[in-house]
Amino acid sequence: TLTQAEKAAVVTIWTKVATQADAIGAESLERLFLSYPQTKTYFPHFDLSQGSAQLRGHGSKVMSAIGEAVKSIDDIRKALVKLSELHAYILRVDPVNFKLLSHCILCSVAAHYPSDFTPEVHAAWDKFLSSISSVLTEKYR
Ligand code: HEM
Repeated sequence: TLTQAEKAAVVTIWTKVATQADAIGAESLERLFLSYPQTKTYFPHFDLSQGSAQLRGHGSKVMSAIGEAVKSIDDIRKALVKLSELHAYILRVDPVNFKLLSHCILCSVAAHYPSDFTPEVHAAWDKFLSSISSVLTEKYR
């Protein structure tokens, strides 16, 4: 679980990220599909070319889910229970992919807000994204 200081760091950087959430979401997916092309196999029905409407639309959905988790930072599980069921039972996304996407989101945030991305903010965001990943993969067990 996140400490009070880590939660505060997540909320602070999120207020900035939220203003560019769609761009950061799309960029995170572009990074994911370019660096880890095997992840594209989950999206055979998508046009994954850079800047495509589907890529941007999906990036926006992912970032709003993260926004919900920020709002419910004391109960991330409750905020994401539906998504957890979707990813486990319907989409059957292999849990390893969550680490890859989290890394790409982290890189996008760092690239957009370099001066805010202190080692403390980095660590807090990393921990927050791994809490989200734990929730989204816990139904697999
Ligand atoms: C769908 C969030 C990780 C593959 C979704 C949706 C959201 C979401 C909000 C849309 C749900 C809906 O339409 O009701 C997230 C979050 C993640 C994450 C917050 C982690 C931070 C992943 C990973 C993969 C993945 C790692 C695979 C590499 C998919 C697929 C869909 C989906 C295939 C369905 C797309 C469609 O057909 O519209 N996800 N996701 N997700 N996600 Fe994730």
